Amino acid sequence: MPQHPLFEIVTTTAGVLSIRNKQVNEIMHNPVGPWKEANQLYIDQSNLRWHLTHDLTTELVIFDVGLGAAANALAILHCAMCAQRAVRIVSFEIDLDLLRFALDHSSQFEHFKGFEGPLGAILSKGYWESENIKWELHHGDFLQCINHVKHHAHIVYYDPYSPKMNQEMWTTECFKKLHNKCDARAMFYNYSQATPIRAALLEAGFFVGYGIATGLKNSTTQAAYSLDDLEKPLDERWFRRWQRSDTPLPFRCEDAEALKSAIHQHKQFSGITT
Ligand SMILES: C[S@@+](CC[C@H](N)C(=O)[O-])C[C@H]1O[C@@H](n2cnc3c(N)ncnc32)[C@H](O)[C@@H]1O
Repeated sequence: MPQHPLFEIVTTTAGVLSIRNKQVNEIMHNPVGPWKEANQLYIDQSNLRWHLTHDLTTELVIFDVGLGAAANALAILHCAMCAQRAVRIVSFEIDLDLLRFALDHSSQFEHFKGFEGPLGAILSKGYWESENIKWELHHGDFLQCINHVKHHAHIVYYDPYSPKMNQEMWTTECFKKLHNKCDARAMFYNYSQATPIRAALLEAGFFVGYGIATGLKNSTTQAAYSLDDLEKPLDERWFRRWQRSDTPLPFRCEDAEALKSAIHQHKQFSGITT
């Protein structure tokens, strides 16, 4: 098979096959690999299996932001296929080449086995459904597509490239749009622990907490629509560190004073004297 101009299969330092984007020199899900990261960071951390056995009368809506090579989406499908609860996966992707590349190399990724049909339908029609699952693709820029989504998310798996390459996906403006499309009990999961990202989530109206450790990171990020839903909210220690941080502002922040006042007045930090 000829080499792809943008993507190649690589082995991570942990010895797992993954895909590298040559343009941004980013190995996806490094070093644990796509399947382990999808399951640890997203599926297990969000207690997806629990959600699939509760509230059976409501459809569970999951936003899969950055469908990419579909590891997160496939991890959802693997869990949801034989569940009783109705599930709607709402995937967002600006460029389907990565999925096409992954599907062309599906024999190298065990988790693709048996799911070539649904993936083919998502690529060709932007939609696939089974008895209990509806899977829709919004193909285009997330910042535009999110405005047209009809459903509110219960769970958000947020997985764009890092801000180095993908800054527009980490701004307060972007998170405000997402916040508008979240259910009152929504939970958000992401691989980063960066201060500008947590600041942007807070400014957008989310409550923000520490997520699990994964790969090379000792912490990741959870966010919630309601403070009560966070296991480990960012605390006074984080607030003091943010005050002293060299990078306290969200990416593309145009009004530093407004940001600072939003965080000082955020309900999450209401007990702290500044
Ligand atoms: C790290 S990859 C996602 C990996 C994927 N979640 C998986 O499980 O394989 C990031 C993806 O986000 C997509 N992306 C970046 N910016 C976007 C935007 N503005 N709108 C929609 N998708 C975007 C990229 O094209 C890329 O496929």
